Amino acid sequence: MEYKSVRGMEDMLPRDAWIWQDIEAAARREFESSGYSEIRTPVLEDTSVFVRGIGETTDIVTKEMFTFPDRKERSLTMRPEGTAPIIRAYIEHALLRVASISRLYYIGPMFRAERPQKGRLRQFFQIGAEVIGSNSPFADIEIIAQINNLMKLFRLKGFKIKLNTLGCVTDKARFAQNLKDYLSDKDQRLCDDCRSRMEKNVLRVLDCKNNGCKDIVRGAPDVLESLCAGCEGHFEKVKNNLTALGIKFEETKNLVRGLDYYTGTVFEITHPSLGGQDAIGAGGRYDNLVKDMGGADVGAVGYALGIERMIIALKDEGRRPEPGNTIYIATIGDAAKLEGIKIAQGIRDGIRQENIAVLTDIGEASLKSQLRSADKSEAKIVIMIGEDELRQGKVTIKYMSGKVPQIMVPVSSIMVEVRKALC
Ligand code: HAM
Repeated sequence: MEYKSVRGMEDMLPRDAWIWQDIEAAARREFESSGYSEIRTPVLEDTSVFVRGIGETTDIVTKEMFTFPDRKERSLTMRPEGTAPIIRAYIEHALLRVASISRLYYIGPMFRAERPQKGRLRQFFQIGAEVIGSNSPFADIEIIAQINNLMKLFRLKGFKIKLNTLGCVTDKARFAQNLKDYLSDKDQRLCDDCRSRMEKNVLRVLDCKNNGCKDIVRGAPDVLESLCAGCEGHFEKVKNNLTALGIKFEETKNLVRGLDYYTGTVFEITHPSLGGQDAIGAGGRYDNLVKDMGGADVGAVGYALGIERMIIALKDEGRRPEPGNTIYIATIGDAAKLEGIKIAQGIRDGIRQENIAVLTDIGEASLKSQLRSADKSEAKIVIMIGEDELRQGKVTIKYMSGKVPQIMVPVSSIMVEVRKALC
């Protein structure tokens, strides 16, 4: 039997892991320096967390969840997203008592049984943040400014922030009714999916990719006409202050989200490299979720970025790994190997510089083939230890660039040479 990874669940190989690590490290730094604390919830939750949280009629809940019974026939689901579990944990551990505003972040795998294609996986990773306990438009602004800053730290350029509002629950219901009225005599021209959306979640008709539906939607009522004064004022403040901060966004009236919990501000971050699946991240306000899941009546806003999609976008913009600093220790004989291990550790302890790797040879290969391995690992210098060197308490240093002749130095001077070679 030929073993393969499960459909839609991909291996992250070393050739891509470096970019992943860059993204994760930059995100953690940004979160921690903004006072966000990490939260880790389990991969499995009671299915009801998602049915209640995301919404019974959403695509995720009706067809994309990995759900199965446990040994006692309780229904469990592999989390398709992070927000509902975080709200479950926020309520379960009474985090409102710890602080009136919780600023949380998370990095972890999510699971959706979607049809796999470029940028659409069945296991994918999200980096996300949630601000729970605030109804202020400045929470939305903080979150969107954070995303904008993350893009800068990731050095991603061609992204867009698309912004819209859905209004509060009453506004959202009013808008849904207006939309239904508008579509009622056009439903025969809608695609099959949209005809069923008309019944279950009419707002989703607005983001249908079908050209016929897009034409119909062009004349649809504007969500802004359904907003109450409070929601209109909130949205104006978000837009005005983002502009004042120099953060570019596109107001996109047909932007609705596939999860039911959203109210008020919603947004997507898109990048052209992803084609149909162009959202590298998305989020918005969800002011009723905490209350709906049994907690206090507090507002919240957050987002999640898809790491795999981010990697596609960064590579599309030509991101390459920074050249590493590798030192290769080539040895002949067991005694030299032992000395090589000690020297390697000494260098690792002595140099607290990121991005340095010290490799020691562990095979029985000839010096020539060790030098070939050193070349493959793009080593800058090779420290060679043979019988002569051992006898004299020295090592031979070979510069792989070939520009400087190799030299023999006492073991005690290795660090000086290493620093010279790597600066
Ligand atoms: P979402 O739009 O469902 O929102 O997902 C957020 C991001 O996760 C997407 O923009 C995309 O980058 C990535 N993503 C989603 N599905 C897949 C997939 N099948 N394969 C690869 N990447 C994918 C949420 O999940 C919300 N919980 C975000 C949020 C947090 N809203 C408020 N707080």
